[in-house]
Amino acid sequence: MSLFRLDASIRTEGSVSREIADEVERAYLDARPGAEVVRRDLGTAPLPADLWTTAVAAGYVAEADLTPEQRGALARIAELADEVLAADAVVVGSPLYNFGIAAHLKTWVDALITDPRFAPGSTPLAGRPVVLVVSRGGGYGPGTPREGWDHGSGWITRILRDVWGADVTVVETELTLADVVPAMSELRPLAAEKRERARVDARTAGERVAAVTPAA
Ligand SMILES: Cc1cc2nc3c(=O)[nH]c(=O)nc-3n(C[C@H](O)[C@H](O)[C@H](O)COP(=O)(O)O)c2cc1C
Repeated sequence: MSLFRLDASIRTEGSVSREIADEVERAYLDARPGAEVVRRDLGTAPLPADLWTTAVAAGYVAEADLTPEQRGALARIAELADEVLAADAVVVGSPLYNFGIAAHLKTWVDALITDPRFAPGSTPLAGRPVVLVVSRGGGYGPGTPREGWDHGSGWITRILRDVWGADVTVVETELTLADVVPAMSELRPLAAEKRERARVDARTAGERVAAVTPAA
């Protein structure tokens, strides 16, 4: 029984995606005491950006002709793939940066897709429960000026759910910058409401994930 926890926020203090993902993790562990949690923190320990490009280049080279660097990249990516494939459930924290997902998270996805087990057409996480926690500084709801500008959440959901086949629950919160940006101060009550809603949703998602993962 294990939960794979992937964080991508570049903050450790004050990170809302980490706070909400903590809630998912807590609910999971409350229901499955003693379950193992395997962590990868892309925010504090990013994968090298050339991990992916090296692995892609290796795909065009005969096995016997691979360079040591290419072999190293493929081996590293195989470890990343092992890590996620070994988990019964997954929690991903995904902050919105520059209207997209964190570059570190994109590198992780791109790198995994070079592993034969994640090759296009396969569904490596078929049916696996995944909770995607999204945090956004601004507001993107219907009728707001930035409606449709979150180009990150849809993409990462597409990969997890439609490309990899996971059973994805999305927990979102936004207006996280209201507490620190004076121009957003009147949005603080709404931000607090959204944050509390996300905590409740996170707890429900964690409980659900525990309920659908196999017992020890
Ligand atoms: C470099 C950077 C870029 C950001 N870009 C956006 C953005 O495009 N849209 C937005 O709504 N918030 C943006 N934010 C705010 C974050 O989405 C917000 O702080 C969110 O809570 C980050 O997740 P975290 O709290 O887990 O760190 C950005 C923050 C940083 C540091």
